[in-house]
Amino acid sequence: MSKVTVVGAGNVGATVANVLAHKDIVNEIVLLDLKGDFAKGKALDSWQQAPIDYYSTKITGTADYRKTKGSDIVVITAGIPRKPGMSRDDLISTNAKIVTSVTKSIMKYSKKPIIIVVSNPLDVMTHAAYKASGLDASRVFGMAGILDTARYRAFLATALDCSPKDLQAVLMGGHGDTMVPLPRYTTVAGIPVTELIGKDELKAIVERTKKGGGELVKLMGTSAWYAPGAAAAQMVESIVKDDNRIFPCCARLTGQYGLKNIFLGVPVKLGASGIKQVIELKLNKSETKLLHKSAEHVNAVMKTFAKMKIS
Ligand code: NAI
Ligand code: 2OP
Repeated sequence: MSKVTVVGAGNVGATVANVLAHKDIVNEIVLLDLKGDFAKGKALDSWQQAPIDYYSTKITGTADYRKTKGSDIVVITAGIPRKPGMSRDDLISTNAKIVTSVTKSIMKYSKKPIIIVVSNPLDVMTHAAYKASGLDASRVFGMAGILDTARYRAFLATALDCSPKDLQAVLMGGHGDTMVPLPRYTTVAGIPVTELIGKDELKAIVERTKKGGGELVKLMGTSAWYAPGAAAAQMVESIVKDDNRIFPCCARLTGQYGLKNIFLGVPVKLGASGIKQVIELKLNKSETKLLHKSAEHVNAVMKTFAKMKIS
């Protein structure tokens, strides 16, 4: 049984902890936030839900990193979310410092955790955590692709009036408006989606997916948390159960897809040791072009990060 620390007890962090507790697959969750009492309150509320929803996962809240000692998995959600009118990239000046300092504090008390980054701008923040942790890249990766594909699948389920359970899809690239949903790899209960929906409608859904995060920010004044929290918890589950599930995750590329030294969304196999394999699809020319364009965008944000000279 594992110990999981979730850093940031805000909207996403508290949801990760709560969803994970419901799965009843780890024995301890530590919810850490600068605002210690807030984290304690969220944890206590989740613990008081346990007798109702029947789980035994212990959840505690704290601001003290000593309580994270010996964590097997750490989910980093600390940082500011975007407000209407902001892009994810606008968050870098605040969040890069937060993610770096959080990672260093975590590493003081846990030797070789697996770190899942959620804070935005996701691809660059995952790089920041990788650098600050000194861990192998198989143990540091980011959550975005599960959320982005979930949005894509949910939009398709609405359009086709079918169960979202039957939608399978792959989506690659950075967590931003340059992400690359792949209709060629999208199926509905095994049926290629292109057999069930018109070209224009599919194109509109792809475009809506790319801006899916912004749509929610506009509606709520802050970014989403239910689907993001559930997505990160799903990654934890595959690791804890050594399930080898294949998910789109933000992983460090070392030549795959003609890209290296970059964290980008690609399909990976997730198990007990973290990323066991980066899966290389045979993308066609236009898909490859879109993926490389997305990588260019992430590299531009990486330059801003490099200029910040955070150590
Ligand atoms: P929130 O504002 O509700 O929660 C953030 C929490 O982080 C706050 O409680 C704050 O006190 C805490 N925090 C700030 N600095 C800290 C530090 N140094 N140490 C510990 N805790 C610290 O924000 P929300 O909505 O939970 O979003 C968190 C992050 O996740 C944002 O950067 C957001 O953009 C990102 N996000 C990423 C998604 C993805 O797909 N990768 C999806 C949704 C959100
Ligand atoms: C989202 O896509 C803001 O990254 C966050 O909801």
